[in-house]
Amino acid sequence: SEVTAFLTELPKCEHHLHLEGTLEPELLFPLAARNGVELPDTFPKNADELHETYNNFADLQDFLNYYYIGCNVLIKEDDFFDLAWEYFKKVSSQGLKHAEVFYDPQSHTSRGISLKVVTRGFERACVKAQEEFNISTKLIMCLLRHLPVEECLEIVASAKPLIESGVINGLGLDSAERPFPPELFVECYELAKSYNDALQLTAHAGEEGGPDFVTNSLDLLGATRIDHGVRSVEDPELIKRLADQKIMLTVCPLSNVKLQVVKDVSELPLQEFLDNNVPFSINSDDPAYFGGYILQNYLELYSRFGWSKAVWEKIAKQSIEGSWCDAKRKEELL
Ligand code: HPA
Ligand code: ZN
Repeated sequence: SEVTAFLTELPKCEHHLHLEGTLEPELLFPLAARNGVELPDTFPKNADELHETYNNFADLQDFLNYYYIGCNVLIKEDDFFDLAWEYFKKVSSQGLKHAEVFYDPQSHTSRGISLKVVTRGFERACVKAQEEFNISTKLIMCLLRHLPVEECLEIVASAKPLIESGVINGLGLDSAERPFPPELFVECYELAKSYNDALQLTAHAGEEGGPDFVTNSLDLLGATRIDHGVRSVEDPELIKRLADQKIMLTVCPLSNVKLQVVKDVSELPLQEFLDNNVPFSINSDDPAYFGGYILQNYLELYSRFGWSKAVWEKIAKQSIEGSWCDAKRKEELL
């Protein structure tokens, strides 16, 4: 349709995409077989059953339990490359121009896979995405907040050369938001930033946690944008601050529905964000688990909010401006 063509053409940036969350059941089972990884007895037996399971998550933790099992089938550098490359191939036809992608080193190093192997596989796919599709990329390492802080400090320390050299461009914080508030990770963020002042900082906040998680991620971690952040709407002062300081929220509509943060995307406070000039971008989070890549997330919002061409162009512009690429690249994307 005309709408699909318009939204496909619109220059899109993704800022909230977990590379491990692009693992489709159709790749998970072959990788498990190829690598001799045994899945739990209770795990679905084929791709169809697994899709069905993914359609019925109770909440964030229920999803995370499957997500970490999925991670276990990734072993070799080429597995990480293949995973990310499949993602870039898919979104190259959806008008994606710039991708700032997350990965969770600790879900791999905890299984004896080196940070170097994981990062190198993902980095190779990023380089190839730039070369073949002109998709620019940034790589963001996330800390698993349910793990002990000492382990998070260790992974930051072991990432020092990758942060110094700019292979890793950003630091994020994911996994179960409650009961692991941002204040636990102050030292981790300080240490990472001390390796390279150009390192960008973000954190998941305000998905499960309240608006105080957002405020504390900004004040205590030094985050300059917030992943999810939809519960910011509960605090009018915070809304004003996000607008005044142009702090972008990386919103994930299909994810929020599938993890039962909201019943329907129409419940998301996106009109409030627009009316109050709170910048946000539209993202897919873990598309293999939530049933849709970036274009589907745009289409889903169109189906509920409508919005004129002018509004969509404002959203596209805000998402370019909130990106971590340099001014020259932003100019090209506009
Ligand atoms: N929230 C928290 N942790 C995650 C997510 C998310 O949306 N995706 C992958 N890990
Ligand atoms: Zn996420």
